[in-house]
Amino acid sequence: MTEEKTKLTGPDLTRGVELSTIPDGTMLLGHAQGEPVLLARRCDELFAIGAICTHYGAPLEQGLLVGDSVRCPWHHACFSLRTGEALRAPALEPVSRWRVEEVRDLAHQFTPVEQRVGAVYVREKLERIAPHSHAATAGTPSSITIIGGGAAGNAAAETLRHEGYSGSITMLTADESLPCDRPNLSKGYLAGAASEESNLLRPAKFYKEHEIDLHLGARVAAIDVGSAQIELADGSRHAYGAVLLATGADPVRLDVPGGDLPHVHYLRTLADSRALVSKALTSRRAVVIGASFIGLEVAASLRTRKIDVQVVGPEKIPMEKILGPAVGNFIRELHEKHGVTFHLGTTAVAIDQRSVTLKNGETLQADLVVVGIGVRPAISLAERAGLAVDRGVTVNEYLETSVPRIFAAGDIARWPDRLTGERIRVEHFVVAERQGQTAARNILGRRERFDAVPFFWTEQYDFGIAYVGHAERWDKAEIDGRLDASDCTINYWRAGRKLAVATIHRDLDGLRSEVEFERTIAQTETEGHA
Ligand SMILES: Cc1cc2nc3c(=O)[nH]c(=O)nc-3n(C[C@H](O)[C@H](O)[C@H](O)COP(=O)(O)OP(=O)(O)OC[C@H]3O[C@@H](n4cnc5c(N)ncnc54)[C@H](O)[C@@H]3O)c2cc1C
Ligand code: FES
Repeated sequence: MTEEKTKLTGPDLTRGVELSTIPDGTMLLGHAQGEPVLLARRCDELFAIGAICTHYGAPLEQGLLVGDSVRCPWHHACFSLRTGEALRAPALEPVSRWRVEEVRDLAHQFTPVEQRVGAVYVREKLERIAPHSHAATAGTPSSITIIGGGAAGNAAAETLRHEGYSGSITMLTADESLPCDRPNLSKGYLAGAASEESNLLRPAKFYKEHEIDLHLGARVAAIDVGSAQIELADGSRHAYGAVLLATGADPVRLDVPGGDLPHVHYLRTLADSRALVSKALTSRRAVVIGASFIGLEVAASLRTRKIDVQVVGPEKIPMEKILGPAVGNFIRELHEKHGVTFHLGTTAVAIDQRSVTLKNGETLQADLVVVGIGVRPAISLAERAGLAVDRGVTVNEYLETSVPRIFAAGDIARWPDRLTGERIRVEHFVVAERQGQTAARNILGRRERFDAVPFFWTEQYDFGIAYVGHAERWDKAEIDGRLDASDCTINYWRAGRKLAVATIHRDLDGLRSEVEFERTIAQTETEGHA
C-alpha cells in the first residue's frame, strides 16, 4: 500500500488527445489535475479512471482490459471502468473516475473550455459511487456474525455494508490485532521495508464508521446450531441470524525437544511478526525450518536484515511439488546467491538455546529459529458444531456449509472448483478475500457461484512469481521463456489439460491465463447445459 507521490507521465488529458491515439481495446496513461489517469476505449465508449491500483499501487496501464473492467498486473484486482469500483479483491478501495468528452463538432464553439474536433478530453472528477442499496427480504438475516478477522472475514464485512446491508454485523476474532495484510508479514514488514501501518487492511475507525462491531481477542468456543447461538471462550453467548465461518489456518507445530523455546518463532499473526522483527534486531544467525513459501520468504527477509540464514527441509528441491524441479532449483540458487545455506533431505530433531540438531547429524548454530512447516485449517469449531468436514469445511458453490445459515470462506473452505471438477481447498490471500465477498452476497440471498480462478503470489528479494489456476498434481511443466533471465511462463498440465500457469515477471501472461481459464469454466458451463 504505497503512499508515494507518483510521477506524472504521458499527456495532460485535460488538454485533449486525438481519438486515433486510443484504438479500440487500448489504454493510454496520462494525467489530469495532477493525478495519474488512465484513458481506456471499448468500441465507441471512452472511460477515464485513476491509474494506480489501490492495493499496492501497481500501474494499471500495464494490466489487462477485460470487458468494461481493467485488471491489475500485480495481484489481479479488478476495477470497473464505468464506476471505478474495486470489483475483485485484493483491492478494497475504488479508483477515482472522471468525465470524458469526445468532441465531434464545434457546435458549442463559444464554450470557455478548450476543444478540438476529433479530440477526447478528460474533464472533471466524478463523485464516488454510493454503496448499493439492499432491499431486505424475508430471507435477509437480522444479524450476521463473522467468526474470524482475517482476509475472508474482513472482506465479507466490508462487502455486506457495500451491498447496503443495514442489520447488525459482529466480527469475532481470536487475533489481538485488527484484520491484517498477512502476506506483508513475511515480506515487506519482516524485511524492514514496509511500515507498521501497512500491516492493517483498514484503520480502526473504518469499522466504527461502517458499524462493524469488531471484537479483538474474542475466541469462539462453540456454535450451538440448535439455538442459533455462539459461545465465546469467556462463556458469553450471542444469538446469530447467519454466520460466516472464516477461522483460517493454524501453523503446524514442530514437535521436537526444545521446540517451545522462546527463540523458536512461528508466523501467522501480526503479533507473531512483531515478535520476529523484534528478535531479528538482536540476532545474528537464524535457522529456518521449512523450505516452502513462508520459510523462503522469511529467509529472504532475514537476509535483507543481514542475518546469516540456513534453511532446513525434508525435500530434495524446494517447492518442487508445486512449481517443478527447474523453478525449485532456480529459487534455491537465487537464495544461495544471497548467502543462504540449504540443508535439504533432512529435518530438525532437537533445538537448544544456541543450535539446531538435524537428523543427518549436523548441528547448526542459531540464536533465532523460525518454523514454517505448513498450516492446518482451523476446523475444530465446525466439527464440534456438526458441519460436514473433509480436510476443511465442506461448502457448495455458494459457499454454504451443510448447516443452513452457516457459510464458510477462506483457508478453511473446501469448495467445488469448476476448472478441475474437484473439491479443493487453498491457502491464498486473494481467494480468501474473494470468497468472503461472495459469501457476503450469498448471505444476502444473491445465489452467486464462487468460480474465481485461484491466484497467489510470492516475493523473495526482487524476484516474484504469480500463479493462476490450481494443479495439486501435474504430469507436465512446460517452460516458455528464460528462467535464468527471470522472464518466463510455466504451464502445468495433467492428462492433456492445462490446470495452472506460473509467471515470472510476465504479468500480462498471468492475466491472460486467468481470462483463458475463466473462458474454459464458462464453456464447461454451457456444455453442461446443452
Ligand atoms: C506470513 C504469511 C504470508 C503469506 N503470504 C501469502 C502470499 O504472499 N500470497 C498468498 O496468496 N497468500 C499468502 N498467505 C496466505 C494468506 O494470508 C491466507 O490464505 C489468508 O490469510 C487466509 O485468510 P482467512 O481469512 O481464511 O484466514 P486468516 O487470515 O488466517 O484469518 C483467520 C481469522 O480467524 C480467527 N480465528 C481462528 N479461530 C477462531 C476462533 N475460534 N474464534 C474467533 N476467531 C478465530 C483468527 O484469529 C483470524 O482472525 C500468507 C500467510 C502468512 C501467514
Ligand atoms: S497492486 Fe494491484 S492488486 Fe495488488
